[in-house]
Amino acid sequence: MRIVVCCTGMKAAPWVAGLEAALPGAVVEEWQAGAPPADHAVVWAPPQQLFDEQPRLKGIFNMGAGVDALLQLRLPPEAALVRLDDAGMSVQMAEFVCHALIRHFRELDGYEQDAAQGRWSFRRPRSRAEFPVGVMGLGVLGQRVAQAVAAFEFPVRGWSRTARAIEGVQCFAGPAQFDAFLAGTRVLVNLLPLTPETENIMNRATLGRLLPGGYVINVARGAHLVDEDLLALVDGGHLAGAALDVFRTEPLPPAHPFWRHPKITVTPHTSARTLRDESIAQIARKVRAFDRGEPVAGVVDLSRGY
Ligand SMILES: NC(=O)c1ccc[n+]([C@@H]2O[C@H](COP(=O)([O-])OP(=O)(O)OC[C@H]3O[C@@H](n4cnc5c(N)ncnc54)[C@H](OP(=O)(O)O)[C@@H]3O)[C@@H](O)[C@H]2O)c1
Repeated sequence: MRIVVCCTGMKAAPWVAGLEAALPGAVVEEWQAGAPPADHAVVWAPPQQLFDEQPRLKGIFNMGAGVDALLQLRLPPEAALVRLDDAGMSVQMAEFVCHALIRHFRELDGYEQDAAQGRWSFRRPRSRAEFPVGVMGLGVLGQRVAQAVAAFEFPVRGWSRTARAIEGVQCFAGPAQFDAFLAGTRVLVNLLPLTPETENIMNRATLGRLLPGGYVINVARGAHLVDEDLLALVDGGHLAGAALDVFRTEPLPPAHPFWRHPKITVTPHTSARTLRDESIAQIARKVRAFDRGEPVAGVVDLSRGY
């Protein structure tokens, strides 16, 4: 079996060595133009040229959960596209979202500012019943996040494409229930995949339906959010602010108003990082299952786009 590794922006050597160790007998090499035909590709942000030169690939294993960028390329029609499922990402996402939520709910930014001025002051405790959290996307990451938030006794609601039942989470599904989901949400967490249906889904109309004083936590993709609509709703007072980890252009350009907005927190797409060892172990398990003709979790449905 021959595997090519191509990961733009990351060092390929540790992935090559890890996959070689996990798949004895396989030839694993960093992809270069003109490489001999491979059975599988393990990729992050690869160039179109890789797929043009490797039309006989059977499996394309993405080093992340989101496949929106790969679906912009022309992939070999026979190849299965396989995403990472969790591989250590869901616990990171849960801690990141809970941190952003609790920082906002407990007004920790305000306490930090007070402390910087040597001021010992209290704020009136807020009621968590008044802070229902709505999670858009109840997949691998969204479910874990919804359950982690529920453990802190916030009311939790979730929205997905098809109906889901998750203990402790009030579930809504499909376009018909979207408005009802938004209307009862104060803190909106986005964990949708980026598809034609979900692009720009957080806009003036939808964010305007959140409970007054709403707060947005975007940890999925920048193109889900219409930046200027968020800014208008924050500046107009309908939204209290936002914690943003993902952006339309990354790195976020230095002149972008998000950087300096006092009610918006920016992090550099770091909420759930690909963990190399966990990911290599998962990809190796999937490659073996795939080659034995067994079912593999995380095969992307190209017609749905996730
Ligand atoms: N910031 C970061 O560091 C980071 C890291 C990893 C991933 N991500 C992002 O997080 C996203 C989610 O990851 P995941 O592993 O949880 O994905 P997933 O398992 O594929 O789950 C996607 C969820 O979104 C729902 N959904 C899809 N299209 C919808 C639509 N049109 N309307 C309503 N619901 C819809 C799905 O509904 P069904 O349940 O009905 O299928 C499912 O519940 C990724 O696609 C990626 O963009 C970000």
